[in-house]
Amino acid sequence: MTISLTRLDPAGQDRAALIDFMTRNDFPFHVRVHPSAGDVEGAIGKGAYRDEDNDSFWIDHRELGRIGFLRFEDLSEGTPLFDLRLDGPFRGRGLGVPVLSAATAHVFSTMPSVNRFEGQTREDNIAMRTTFVRCGWLKEAHYREGWPVNGGAPLASTAYSILRRDWETGQTTTFDWDDLSAWHVSAQHDVAHPSHTETTKEEPHHGR
Ligand SMILES: CC(C)(COP(=O)(O)OP(=O)(O)OC[C@H]1O[C@@H](n2cnc3c(N)ncnc32)[C@H](O)[C@@H]1OP(=O)(O)O)[C@@H](O)C(=O)NCCC(=O)NCCS
Repeated sequence: MTISLTRLDPAGQDRAALIDFMTRNDFPFHVRVHPSAGDVEGAIGKGAYRDEDNDSFWIDHRELGRIGFLRFEDLSEGTPLFDLRLDGPFRGRGLGVPVLSAATAHVFSTMPSVNRFEGQTREDNIAMRTTFVRCGWLKEAHYREGWPVNGGAPLASTAYSILRRDWETGQTTTFDWDDLSAWHVSAQHDVAHPSHTETTKEEPHHGR
């Protein structure tokens, strides 16, 4: 395996290295682009890197050494999410694909009760979205204006997942986005919503 995951101890021996990693990198597609040392210390104190829901790892590459950070989230919910951050010098080199593959293998091979593994990213994080697709993940949602942007208009959040059976077979399964048509209901995007017509109807009349 080219990639290995090394569990880190955020409140102990890895504390200084974790603060250093988070504060010397930019994360342009995260809500907090430049975390401060205080932000990271606060997150460590709250258990955001390791508690019953979260667990964090260094990403180690056989030839390149330590190339980034990975956190599993929502571990007590049954469907984990993740936060993947490559170190600046290792971005833009296609390393996201083997890293996400290793993260997926870690989840399905060490967490027997987990059937789905999920990830979300901002709509304009094309590198991450390409990485999802190249690893066999399926886009399942596009949450319009669901991603707050500091000082700007909100962007969409896109959601991807991989199922255990897809990982086992190497075949990505999909679903029918237009499944309502089986019930003879067709989507109508160009008509006023009932809520809109309702509001219009109830508008007070001004003047006589
Ligand atoms: C997101 C991340 C994991 C992606 O991994 P990566 O190895 O750096 O991905 P790459 O930059 O090699 O991009 C993958 C592909 O997307 C393409 N791509 C990236 N940005 C693009 C853009 N703006 N337009 C078109 N294509 C783009 C790349 O060209 C590449 O395709 P190629 O191999 O055919 O050239 C990594 O960049 C990272 O850690 N970024 C910072 C943290 C982050 O955003 N994490 C995601 C939140 S979960």
